[in-house]
Amino acid sequence: MKDILTELEDRRAQARLGGGQARIDAQHGRGKLTARERIELLLDEDSFEEFDMFVAHRCTDFGMEKQKPAGDGVITGWGTINGRMVYVFSQDFTVFGGSLSETHAQKICKIQDMAIQNGAPVIGINDSGGARIQEGVASLAGYAEVFQRNIMASGVVPQISLIMGPCAGGAVYSPAMTDFIFMVRDTSYMFVTGPDVVKTVTNEQVTAEELGGASTHTKKSSVADGAFENDVEALAEVRRLVDFLPLNNREKPPVRPFFDEPGRVEESLDTLIPENANTPYDMKELIHKVADEGDFFEIQEDFAKNIITGFIRLEGQSVGVVANQPMVLAGCLDIDSSRKAARFVRFCDAFEIPILTLVDVPGFLPGTGQEYGGVIKHGAKLLFAYGEATVPKVTVITRKAYGGAYDVMASKHLRGDFNYAWPTAEIAVMGAKGATEIIHRGDLGNAEKIAKHTADYEERFANPFVAAERGFIDEVIMPHSTRRRISKAFASLRTKKLTNPWKKHDNIPL
Ligand code: HXC
Repeated sequence: MKDILTELEDRRAQARLGGGQARIDAQHGRGKLTARERIELLLDEDSFEEFDMFVAHRCTDFGMEKQKPAGDGVITGWGTINGRMVYVFSQDFTVFGGSLSETHAQKICKIQDMAIQNGAPVIGINDSGGARIQEGVASLAGYAEVFQRNIMASGVVPQISLIMGPCAGGAVYSPAMTDFIFMVRDTSYMFVTGPDVVKTVTNEQVTAEELGGASTHTKKSSVADGAFENDVEALAEVRRLVDFLPLNNREKPPVRPFFDEPGRVEESLDTLIPENANTPYDMKELIHKVADEGDFFEIQEDFAKNIITGFIRLEGQSVGVVANQPMVLAGCLDIDSSRKAARFVRFCDAFEIPILTLVDVPGFLPGTGQEYGGVIKHGAKLLFAYGEATVPKVTVITRKAYGGAYDVMASKHLRGDFNYAWPTAEIAVMGAKGATEIIHRGDLGNAEKIAKHTADYEERFANPFVAAERGFIDEVIMPHSTRRRISKAFASLRTKKLTNPWKKHDNIPL
């Protein structure tokens, strides 16, 4: 008996070594942690329970039968993050470059199936050379099995991808179908075809970093939702994110203890809006000042900065925030910001996270670039996302809410539950100057008359009261009491029940 127990320990020790000490050292030498070290940092101490430690590949080509490392390049299992269950897989670059074989895929599929069945998030740590070249189509089949499960899990359990090494070829499509992708600067890459193929086909010369590094994907392509300096920071931040999320679509997000008075008055907000309506201010200041303990987890911080998305808590409850940012493009909606915010709104709605919308938007960005790029369809994504969302929706208009963008930004007409405005709000079809130049075109040569018309228009429309008279704005509130008002609003909506008509699924303009 003793021998058998010892043998198990020996086999475990061997499996834990993955591709061997030399390759582990090489991994460390690149500034990367090993697959197991990453799991240890991601999960609560000693909470990891492993599956399939001894699974080995079945390939007999290219001499592969002579090297069959236990675990086959991926570590899978489950554990807890602050006491709440998550499933995890972590690719081991020290074993065949973390490449995905048939059995490697089966291990990932097993935990995906369990996560869907048992209702817990899946966190995937990707560090892989892609399809295991020696296995050919068996490996491609394995990828597709993973993809299918990503699709089935979407909207059922949160799926989070960490990119912590190369991620090439079809390997990028599994992360692409998850809810959030986070990368590590300088050590992670994502591309469908690498720099060599790009050079051959298009004659472009790019480095891996330029083609698919963290900067590219957080600033240009928007494939990634965030980037971190190193593995340790990335894993810690994912723990922080998981704390905002429910385990699955049938559960509410967790309620955390809070040490911040819900009725906290912020006098400084009374002077947040500058005297001049065209002077920008930082909307993030408002977000930080209303959030419990000022804590804000931003999503896609470096992309389409004219809109801000992320999570805060109010009275310990998770709230998704969407906010126009007047500091960038005057807070206009455009293609990128509409896509960014639409996806965020849909995530929140799928996982029962209430949405707070902070509005200061002068309209959609004009121009051929926008029109040719399909701003109509992309803008419609955000409109659609807000309109279909059934979670509690609370909106605060701080300054401009002009034109179609007023409608889009969680207006009363899109089933906003509480629509508040600050006294500084201007809710109108367009700004006074533009409106005057259209209505009083005949007076355009007379500066004095135009100035008077503009002043009249401002007096009549550049305020929240016309909308409030119609009940489109439920209440004009004092900026300093915003946290109190929205906390109370969300508290009153905790029992909200709203369902859309039955359908197989909608046809959001993609
Ligand atoms: C088998 C692989 C492998 C792969 C790497 N290795 N990728 N083994 N299949 N795809 C092995 C290497 O042979 C090496 O083994 C070890 O992993 C480490 O690789 P290195 O090349 O030494 O490391 P590095 O220099 O850091 O380069 C990493 C890399 C490079 C950029 C990932 O290995 C690479 O380009 N690999 C091939 C990538 C690729 O073309 N994958 C197929 C994509 S197509 P030893 O024994 O020497 O340590 C695809 C289609 C899927 O994925 C479609 C699904 C729909």
